[in-house]
Amino acid sequence: MASRDAFHSRLGFILAAAGSAIGLGNIWAFPTNAANNGGGAFLFVYLVVTILLALPALYAEVYIGNQAQKNPVAALEEATQSKLGRYGGIAGLCGAIMMLSFYTIVAGWMLSHALSPLFQLLGFDDIAQWLATDSSARNFLFTPIFILLGAAIIHQGVSAGIEKWSTRLMPMLLVMMIALIVYILQQPGAMEGLKVYLIPDFSRVTEPDLIVSAMGQAFFSLSIGVGGMMVYGSYMAKGKDIGKLVASITLLDTSIAILAGLLIIPALFVAQHAGQQVFVDNHLIGEGQLIFSILPTLFESLGSIGLLVAFTFFALLSIAALTSTISSTEVPVAYLVESKDIPRNKATWMVSAVVFTASSIIILNFEAIFGLIIQGLTTILQPLSCLFYFVVVGWLWKRGNKLTDQATLQAHTSLRLLSYYIKFICPILISVVFYNVAF
Ligand code: PFF
Repeated sequence: MASRDAFHSRLGFILAAAGSAIGLGNIWAFPTNAANNGGGAFLFVYLVVTILLALPALYAEVYIGNQAQKNPVAALEEATQSKLGRYGGIAGLCGAIMMLSFYTIVAGWMLSHALSPLFQLLGFDDIAQWLATDSSARNFLFTPIFILLGAAIIHQGVSAGIEKWSTRLMPMLLVMMIALIVYILQQPGAMEGLKVYLIPDFSRVTEPDLIVSAMGQAFFSLSIGVGGMMVYGSYMAKGKDIGKLVASITLLDTSIAILAGLLIIPALFVAQHAGQQVFVDNHLIGEGQLIFSILPTLFESLGSIGLLVAFTFFALLSIAALTSTISSTEVPVAYLVESKDIPRNKATWMVSAVVFTASSIIILNFEAIFGLIIQGLTTILQPLSCLFYFVVVGWLWKRGNKLTDQATLQAHTSLRLLSYYIKFICPILISVVFYNVAF
């Protein structure tokens, strides 16, 4: 077998992994979830779950990939030395396809909303209007465009494609968001939104539904439970002490989610202040679609400069979505290349075709299945996968396992510190959350 491609540096890994983590989950899903679940209460539970569960799950996932230096299916099979691992890996791979099936649709919305203000600036108002209005035709145009963009990067490989693009594009997003937050917070009504977002209503923090949503959001946001981080971990030189790397990725990802909340939630209240109906019974109208009407209206209030702001904002969101898409696509691609000996190019097109078929099914049955797929992935498949990773690292990983030599174990001070936590506490925590939902 040909030697594996890899990241060239630790920074390359951090940026690519942060590129995977930071995406629509942070900027689109997190503020929507928070706004629907009491703002501050959701933020509070989200932070607790991120520290107690998502961070160790990310550690476990990257650790397995890094030790095995193989794609997730092969890595889990080797770590468990049984078919159970293989099935766990395949479940993650299906999760990656599931994620891509709806994610590429939403990413397509970002692309069309980026182009709309450009057409408006050029005077093509009808096209601008079409691009800004939800329709199946628009989905059928932009979803495949987005899938092709991702495929174009993936087929260039790890260092020339994934590493190069993630490193360049992520810092721009941060600057843009901070500038927008400064603007929004000066608008009338913004302070009310800020209060709702930052002051938790502690009577809500024990609500099971809220906890499960926050847990799903945290796993989704850190890209865990579908093998995306495992495959990136496998592209990093074996045996690094990954504790610090994982902590940096978590910090970056959580900071961007918090910033997105600081932007979107006050923006919703600014729109409400201006007379637009945004909430009914504390629930967002139109749920996920809302930011696509609220934000452009706010941008328009800035005049023609606002059109450029709108373009830049949605273009950067498309880019953030792209760096997330490629990590998920890499899961099945790496499996086909390494375990089935299929050339990278062909594997990329095969996976893209499967994703397009799955997203077409969603587009055609949007009302019925879009929300269900997201919920199934984030609140069932991802948490179960994480439980599996904890069990693999905590219980099934044998000391004599050929993956882990003695020297590597010694180098992993953080793993030794974490091992009891991962072995006992994490599986119990996830099981308790599931139990509370079921009963
Ligand atoms: N973490 C990404 C986001 O927040 O948008 C979504 C994601 C990417 C989930 C990659 C899973 C994955 F493998």
